[in-house]
Amino acid sequence: MRSFLLPVLSLTLGLAASAIADPTLSPWQLHEQRSHIPAGWTRTRKLDSSVSVPLRFALSQSNMENLEALLYEVSLPASSNYGKHWSPSQIAAKFAPSAESIETVRSWLIGSGVEPHRITLSPTKGWLEVASTVEEAENLLLADYHVYDHETGTRHIACDSYHLPEHVIPHVDFVTPTIHFDAKIPRKRENQYTRVPIGQPGQGSTPKTSGQIGTIFDQLEDCDKQITPICLRALYGLWYQPVAGKQNSYGIVEYTPQSYLQSDLDLFAKNFSTGLEGVSPTLVSIDGGVIESSSPSFDYNGESDLDLEYAMTLVTKGQDITLYQVGDSVEGASFNTFLDALDGTYCKYDGGDDATQDPAYPDTASGGYTGNEECGTVKPANVISTSYGYNEADLSPAYAIRQCNEYAKLGLMGVTFLFSSGDTGVAGNGDYCLNPDGSQSPDGKIFNPGFPASCPYVTAVGATQVSPGQSVWEPENACEQVIYSGGGFSNYFSMPLYQKAAVEGYLAAEPISYPKDIYNSTGSRAYPDLAANGANYVIAVDGSFSLVYGTSAASPVVGSILTMVNDARISQGKPPLGFINPSIYSADFVGGFKDVTNGTNPGCGTLGFNTTKGWDPVSGLGTPYFPSLLSKWLSL
Ligand SMILES: *[C@@H]1O[C@H](CO)[C@@H](O)[C@H](O)[C@H]1NC(C)=O
Ligand SMILES: *[C@@H]1O[C@H](CO)[C@@H](O)[C@H](O)[C@H]1NC(C)=O
Ligand SMILES: *[C@@H]1O[C@H](CO)[C@@H](O)[C@H](O)[C@H]1NC(C)=O
Ligand SMILES: *[C@@H]1O[C@H](CO)[C@@H](O)[C@H](O)[C@H]1NC(C)=O
Repeated sequence: MRSFLLPVLSLTLGLAASAIADPTLSPWQLHEQRSHIPAGWTRTRKLDSSVSVPLRFALSQSNMENLEALLYEVSLPASSNYGKHWSPSQIAAKFAPSAESIETVRSWLIGSGVEPHRITLSPTKGWLEVASTVEEAENLLLADYHVYDHETGTRHIACDSYHLPEHVIPHVDFVTPTIHFDAKIPRKRENQYTRVPIGQPGQGSTPKTSGQIGTIFDQLEDCDKQITPICLRALYGLWYQPVAGKQNSYGIVEYTPQSYLQSDLDLFAKNFSTGLEGVSPTLVSIDGGVIESSSPSFDYNGESDLDLEYAMTLVTKGQDITLYQVGDSVEGASFNTFLDALDGTYCKYDGGDDATQDPAYPDTASGGYTGNEECGTVKPANVISTSYGYNEADLSPAYAIRQCNEYAKLGLMGVTFLFSSGDTGVAGNGDYCLNPDGSQSPDGKIFNPGFPASCPYVTAVGATQVSPGQSVWEPENACEQVIYSGGGFSNYFSMPLYQKAAVEGYLAAEPISYPKDIYNSTGSRAYPDLAANGANYVIAVDGSFSLVYGTSAASPVVGSILTMVNDARISQGKPPLGFINPSIYSADFVGGFKDVTNGTNPGCGTLGFNTTKGWDPVSGLGTPYFPSLLSKWLSL
């Protein structure tokens, strides 16, 4: 995986490296480069060579090449260390940059003429910072710095590519400022609350609604028209009363300005789960996250109301739900904001969040959150469901890979991360598809995978439906009402071992008829991993009942099922599930899922992929069947 950070290792520069370089050092090699200037930016001028720039070297974390194997060791059912999850301090100790990395970079800098007093190591040893000038930075990195102006007036310093000596490269993930456009761009405000902008998790991924309904049919015969909790219990065999209480935990993540309304939860509870009237989730506010109720609308409340109404009802009053409400109402938040709160070793100062994607706290804007950014202060729940997502192409590979590795670390700590797989089939959010140059547009022809669903260390949840006229006792089909199940093949991540047999089985049984340049046919990470119903959900929103659609609905339902498995495991003294993919794809779990073999996931002017017997890139392994999963996981 690390190789993605170093995309073009093969180009060795023959140039003698400038006046200050020590000739005994290894040759410089290209470390990172950018193919085009991001939208909205213009290169304005060469930067004066005497301007000072703080050069920051993100040191490589240690043992990252072992991360995947270590994760499998605690999550493969056949492993003798199954379920032996790590503590946060074990994680920190294992993956912190090595003394050798620090020393290699430092002595190269000193050998190149940087006085030791100008080099600082960050307190958690993740970064070396050099107080430098443009001229010196250009010599150290064989780079050419320019000033760039953004249409909003923001100014940024960057280069198109940069180099490092060969022997330094393995010790440095990346250097700033270089090719990354990590300037914070001011966001346009609408009213008092910012609309979450393009590229932020909320964009394009909230559930869709077909409007309000007059009558609720809370009968099993009507699950093809309306999904209510009883339909889901019947479909997935979820009749279970939790007993572990506070020992177990289930987290739902919501990104401000999305927010639930207590009056909606109560309205839903009144019709479907009377014991829950007046009950709220336990709020964990991260970086100013608030429950905002002053501007009710489907856009602001639909996602949160949906997630919480179904999760709370399915796990019953016996299991509390933790609501991670992330970001203030001015800046919102990104997935990294949340991950920073969970893991102190990942925080901005040490990890290198990207300011074009990740908000910065304290927030200096009026009404913003003025506290320090949460950093490793929030304990992760056993299962965490997130119904938001980006297109992979919204993010740079380095950014996505770094975040994906963090999910692996949290998996190693015993957390199950579920993400909805997207609602636009093989297209990306907003029905955008890729063009050959890597840009995205509505008329693009190339399939556009979603992230984090494409990260091999999360569990991606697609959507199914009870087709019109069918019953809950018949097999479900791929969701083809209002939304299509997100699925396909990553452009950033290679195929993890655990799914190799399943995906190769699919490709052998059903050779894909598309030209190889419209989907990634190189054997990359395929998703989703599994699916659950995503059509015709009855939810209470803004004081009345509406029907909604989305993988947004499917993810918290799967989370509820896994939380009930955890309840049974914990009450038998077993650890929680952690990362489930190595289990669910294994031979031991055949029969744990109901296969989905009818329907496709259209997008980009195509019908998308076909469902088939066994795993497919529409419904994954199929829908979970709780009684069978419970007995399988209780035997581990
Ligand atoms: C909700 O339940 C109440 C009483 O149980 C019932 O009168 C009402 O019709 C239900 N609401 C809908 C929209 O069906
Ligand atoms: C397949 O799905 C379509 C569309 O939902 C449905 O009309 C059809 O009856 C399904 N076929 C089977 C065999 O279930
Ligand atoms: C296909 O995925 C692989 C990762 O497995 C990646 O290296 C490659 O660049 C991708 N191809 C395209 C055209 O994006
Ligand atoms: C899906 O199945 C249909 C019918 O068998 C076939 O014509 C089509 O080529 C398949 N789609 C893909 C992407 O292989």
